[in-house]
Amino acid sequence: MTIFEAYNSIKKQLKEAGICDDVFEAKQIIKHITGLDNAGILSSYTNELNEFQKTNLTVILKQRLARYPLQYILGRWDFFGRAYRVGPGVLIPRQDTETVPETCLEILKGKENPTVLDLCAGTGCIGITLGAERKDSTVTLVEKYEEAARYTRDNIKLNAPENTTLLMGDVFEGTAADKQYDLIVSNPPYISANDMENLQPEVKFEPDVALYGGEDGLMFYRCILANYKNSVKSGGSLVFEIGYDQGNAVKTLMEEFGFSDVTVKKDISHNDRVVFGTVK
Ligand SMILES: C[S@@+](CC[C@H](N)C(=O)[O-])C[C@H]1O[C@@H](n2cnc3c(N)ncnc32)[C@H](O)[C@@H]1O
Repeated sequence: MTIFEAYNSIKKQLKEAGICDDVFEAKQIIKHITGLDNAGILSSYTNELNEFQKTNLTVILKQRLARYPLQYILGRWDFFGRAYRVGPGVLIPRQDTETVPETCLEILKGKENPTVLDLCAGTGCIGITLGAERKDSTVTLVEKYEEAARYTRDNIKLNAPENTTLLMGDVFEGTAADKQYDLIVSNPPYISANDMENLQPEVKFEPDVALYGGEDGLMFYRCILANYKNSVKSGGSLVFEIGYDQGNAVKTLMEEFGFSDVTVKKDISHNDRVVFGTVK
């Protein structure tokens, strides 16, 4: 089987399985099994796959047709222009989440040597982006689960300067709340009990502890507001990622906890995605 035949066969099988991004995914899988980049594939598409590559392809295709996430198969995924290690046990960074560090970087403009706390860090994609983009910052990431933290540590090594560190802990116990920060940011688990019943097949492979936000999806927002409200410096900000239908509820919660200028912002897909406010 040549590379070109393999590509066409993968594309066809993905399409038949209802995976809509079949062209993109077929190309990613070919790159993964051959180790070639775009130019390499173009110049060698009539080459035969070797036995190892063919076996690898069979295993990968079987996994993907069972809706195992492509990102876990590849073992890495890009976020804000940097590659992150991903796999079972950690939430895959979403493109919609890029609105979160974008908002944080706007807020931090003009603040020198800012201190940042990223709660519920997962791969670390939010805090690491901030540490890497703002070399003068000091960033602390908090994650509860070792299954996720082994990726956080790797990703800090891969992408972040020495200003970024991981602290194992629990937001329900107020880990790291004993200090004050210029910015606290969090993309906590926020899926409600009802929505957990209707997850896409791929999402079901991601850890429940990264998804489930309590009966109404708002449990983590209430807890973080209660435990960390006094950890935001005067003039500092709190930034949350939210589900597309949680803008009003989280805005109201932040106002109840005394935050000012609370704003809901949309992501690139035009869904409400970020709520942020300041402490006067
Ligand atoms: C929605 S994921 C977000 C991951 C990452 N920040 C991102 O944006 O892709 C939430 C993360 O919170 C972690 N987590 C869940 N409960 C936690 C708790 N009580 N304290 C700290 N982290 C927690 C999960 O393990 C998961 O990594």
